[in-house]
Amino acid sequence: PKLIVTNRSGEESAIDVEDGLTVMEAIRDNGFDELLALCGGCASCATCHVHVDPAFKDKLPPIGEDEDDLLESTDTRDENSRLACQIPFAPELDGLKVTIAEED
Ligand code: FES
Repeated sequence: PKLIVTNRSGEESAIDVEDGLTVMEAIRDNGFDELLALCGGCASCATCHVHVDPAFKDKLPPIGEDEDDLLESTDTRDENSRLACQIPFAPELDGLKVTIAEED
């Protein structure tokens, strides 16, 4: 399955995602160093903040309480904000588009 990532310069690239990875891991492992993911995926840093294509909203797992609190602490949250480490990539997310959020 493919994940489509837009970086902070507005360039879009498609990456292949292996089963079992989160969206954060897939982005980080493909050399997008703008996605710092400082906490390594435990929903405590918010540096994996992405904006998700609203067309996929219903297919994503619901926002957890920690995730919600952290997103709320950023200045760049919008209604499509998620922490990429809280989204396990699944086959039904094939073609998901995410945009790396602006630096907070
Ligand atoms: Fe830290 Fe996602 S990697 S919150």
